[in-house]
Amino acid sequence: MGVSSQSRHLLDIRSLSQDDLVFLLSRSSELARGSSPEHLDRCVANLFFEPSTRTRVSFELAARRLGAEVINIELARSSASKGESLLDTAATLVAMGVDALVLRHPDTGEVHRLASALLRPVVLINAGDGQGDHPSQALLDAATLQRSGLDWSSATVAIVGDIRHSRVARSNIELFTRLGVGCIRLAGPPGFVPAELESERVERVASLEQAIDGADAVMMLRIQHERMDQSVWPDRSAYAREWCLTPAHLELARPDCRVLHPGPINRELEIDSAVADGPRSLILEQVRMGVFSRMAVFEWLLG
Ligand code: NCD
Repeated sequence: MGVSSQSRHLLDIRSLSQDDLVFLLSRSSELARGSSPEHLDRCVANLFFEPSTRTRVSFELAARRLGAEVINIELARSSASKGESLLDTAATLVAMGVDALVLRHPDTGEVHRLASALLRPVVLINAGDGQGDHPSQALLDAATLQRSGLDWSSATVAIVGDIRHSRVARSNIELFTRLGVGCIRLAGPPGFVPAELESERVERVASLEQAIDGADAVMMLRIQHERMDQSVWPDRSAYAREWCLTPAHLELARPDCRVLHPGPINRELEIDSAVADGPRSLILEQVRMGVFSRMAVFEWLLG
C-alpha cells in the first residue's frame, strides 16, 4: 500500500502488510463462496496501455458486481495517442470524478511514478507494469492455491519458463515467500532465470524435470516476446522439447500437483493441451478467482 494525496493504492506485494495479505486472500475466498459483496457507489477507470483479456475484463466485472461505474479507456481513441502525458490523462479522469484507476503499462515502475506524481486523491491499482509487479495476479494465484488445499509451509512450488520478463513470477515469488512457502524452484532456458531472485527459500534448478520432481504446484509462464530482443528468443521447437509441460512430466510431481498458468497460454509450446485441459489444471479456476480477488481489492481500497 502506497500513499499519495491521502489515497491508498495497490502497487506491489511488498508494500502490503501481513494483515492486508491475510484479509485480501480470505475475502477473495469468502466472495467465491457466495458472501454478499459491499455496494460501492464509485467510479473506476480501466486504463490499459498493453493488450489484455482476462485482467481487464475481470477488473471490469469485479467493479460492476460491486455496483461501481466502469469506464474502459481505449488507448488508440484516447488523448494519450495525441501526446498527452499519463499524469495529465490521470488528472483529467480524476477531475471528472473517477475514484480509482486500474493501470497497465509497458514501462517498469510507471505506476509507482504516477503514484508519487499525482496531486489529486485517486486510488491506483497496478494491473501490471513492464517487468515490475502484478500484485492482483499474485493475489488470485495464491487464493486459487489456498482454496485447492495447498499447505504453504510444506509446499514445493515450481515456476517455469520466461521468468526474467515476468512480473507475474516476481509478484508471486514475493507473495508465496511472505505466506511461508516451503520452497520455490525456478527453471527456464539460460538467461531466462535471473540469479537475483534466489533466496533462502527460492532456488534455481537446471531443468523442468528437476523443478517438477515432487512438486505440489507448477506454474508455467509465457515467453514474453514483447519484452525481449528477438535475437535472444530461443527456437520454438527447441523450446517446446525442453520446456513444454507434458503428462509425462506430471508423473514426476506429487499425485495432487496443481498446474497453473496466468494466461494467455500458448498450447504445445509452454504447455501440452492434455495438461492444460487435464484434471490437475487450475488455469480456468485462476481466471474465475481473478474476479473475486479483484472484488476484494476494490472493497479494500474503496469500501
Ligand atoms: C500476464 C501479464 O500480463 O503479465 N498475464 C495476465 O495478466 N493474466 C502474463 C503474460 O502476459 O504472459
